[in-house]
Amino acid sequence: MSKRIIITGGAGFIGSHVVRLFVTKYPEYTIINLDALTYAGNLENLKDIENHPNYIFEKANIVDAEAVKAVFDKYKPDGVIHLAAESHVDRSITSPLDFVYTNVIGTVNLLNAAKELWKKDYSGKRFHHVSTDEVYGALGETGFFTEATKYDPHSPYSASKASSDHFVYAYSDTYGLPVVLTNCSNNYGPNHFPEKLIPLMIHNIIHNKPLPVYGDGKYTRDWLYVIDHARAIDQVFHQGTVGENYNVGGFNEWKNIDLVKLLCKQMDEKLERPAGTSEQLITFVKDRPGHDLRYAIDASKINKELGWAPSVTFEEGLSKTIDWYLENKEWLDHVTSGAYQAYYEQQYAH
Ligand code: NAD
Ligand code: DAU
Repeated sequence: MSKRIIITGGAGFIGSHVVRLFVTKYPEYTIINLDALTYAGNLENLKDIENHPNYIFEKANIVDAEAVKAVFDKYKPDGVIHLAAESHVDRSITSPLDFVYTNVIGTVNLLNAAKELWKKDYSGKRFHHVSTDEVYGALGETGFFTEATKYDPHSPYSASKASSDHFVYAYSDTYGLPVVLTNCSNNYGPNHFPEKLIPLMIHNIIHNKPLPVYGDGKYTRDWLYVIDHARAIDQVFHQGTVGENYNVGGFNEWKNIDLVKLLCKQMDEKLERPAGTSEQLITFVKDRPGHDLRYAIDASKINKELGWAPSVTFEEGLSKTIDWYLENKEWLDHVTSGAYQAYYEQQYAH
């Protein structure tokens, strides 16, 4: 069966791993990467697969309904995997409207385009919405988010993602659109933009810069290696029950301060610096407003129903991630200098 799948946000962190997995694992599919190339979009993430015959890049903004329709009309996809989003909580606190446009309106534009193209002939069709555990709000010291946890978002980012999830369910309930959703915990790994905790700390340790830890550093996140998230998306897209969501997480909780100390330890070893060198860079800074105390995912549904489980331990994943950043200094330099934004013009625009 030939499948044409639009993956939105494929030039970003997680999207690039999903695109690579689908392009290489399913040579019989055509994968169309639809991405606006915002500051978070980096086509250097996909250099290794950009010439594969089953890969196509389309620069388009999902906020522009006409542009979205044009891409759908051109490729007539049977599947959509939607990752494009404004993804950084701190940016949502300073610019909430950008999150409403892309995460809410952009998602509705995609839902409309799929609904119009498929015209109720839903056989073999699938709209997979990639969402976050942040829609569930914050946990106290104990407990887990399950698929039944009530939505209770706190930041403008999580409010926009919760809103987009509700629209996805609404299109399923109202129009019968065949949707699946995944709500995942914090990802880490190669190609992570260095505004997020782990890559920012790696970057700053390399450059001997302060390591800003918000508040008392006791906030807790559940970390998952990005390639395991991509594997989960593959399984849910193909085998998930239509109309349902699946929580994805690593059963791997870390307080931020403990995680930063582990990173410092591993990096001192890899950079052959005396033990304790990097820890001296830790600086406690002003807290994030509305900072959620703790996230922890119960991923037993996807494990029991689809057999998914993380493939790497945290120590292995973190070590691989640090090695990737040390071996790909050019990637990091291009991101911090802004040079990565010229890649599209150089490679694609004629
Ligand atoms: P990212 O910020 O690294 O990448 C986002 C991508 O979307 C970029 O390539 C960007 O150019 C593109 N994009 C942004 N606005 C767009 C627009 N208006 N039109 C078209 N493209 C646009 O994000 P990420 O961390 O890879 O997250 C991907 C998805 O996964 C998001 O939906 C996010 O909410 C979700 N998610 C992320 C995490 C995480 O830990 N990073 C965890 C759970 C869920
Ligand atoms: O839980 C899933 C979510 O994880 C995704 O939906 C988001 O897209 C993704 O950005 C991430 O959100 P977080 O806010 O948890 O990630 P971030 O890396 O920004 O922060 C992780 C924790 O580290 C959080 O408690 C805030 C803290 N932090 C972050 C930064 C950038 C610091 O202490 N210092 C920092 O400099």
